[in-house]
Amino acid sequence: MNYQNQGIIVEIEKARATDAEWIDEKIRIEFPYTEFTPKKIIERMNNPKYLVLVAHQENILTGFAEIEFFLDKKEIRLNAIYVDDAWRGQKIATKIVEHLVEECRRVFAERLFLLVRTSNDGAKELYEKNGFTFEKMHDKKIEGEKIEVWSRKILPQATHIRRYAS
Ligand SMILES: CC(C)(COP(=O)(O)OP(=O)(O)OC[C@H]1O[C@@H](n2cnc3c(N)ncnc32)[C@H](O)[C@@H]1OP(=O)(O)O)[C@@H](O)C(=O)NCCC(=O)NCCS
Repeated sequence: MNYQNQGIIVEIEKARATDAEWIDEKIRIEFPYTEFTPKKIIERMNNPKYLVLVAHQENILTGFAEIEFFLDKKEIRLNAIYVDDAWRGQKIATKIVEHLVEECRRVFAERLFLLVRTSNDGAKELYEKNGFTFEKMHDKKIEGEKIEVWSRKILPQATHIRRYAS
């Protein structure tokens, strides 16, 4: 899908095997506690329980996100969202989140949730601006840091409401 965004075009689509090296490089920097390899990332891309998305501008990758489906509970977890340094502050993450909300609606998920470090004020502001609220403290720490659970209810889009004159 294409989004025109402050003069840049944010294209968001399913990641391909050829994106795995780039995603792996970014995961090693931003989420080093997760032990990923390009091979494991490709396995995730091919596993229907997950959806790995990339954002790009023409052929330059600008960000990625991974979600995990828990459809028996009508829930989706946002496992990771990342925008490359040079592209931050241009609402690319916002567009990714909007895209994910649409994905939730497509599969009739009613809750989108995520874990975020208490110290990650930037990410929390992004989530707050996009309708998420703090839910509770997570029961485990990551790398000694406190972790919060944030979530957002997904309402179906009221596109087909008809009004009849009485
Ligand atoms: C968090 C992250 C994904 C934001 O990406 P982005 O494309 O720059 O975000 P957006 O431009 O869509 O930001 C939307 C709003 O979120 C808030 N925000 C985003 N990053 C922020 C930051 N570093 N500091 C403060 N507020 C921030 C702002 O309110 C911003 O609106 P504004 O530009 O009008 O001020 C990016 O900084 C990133 O990849 N960080 C490292 C990985 C990470 O922490 N991921 C989240 C793990 S839970």
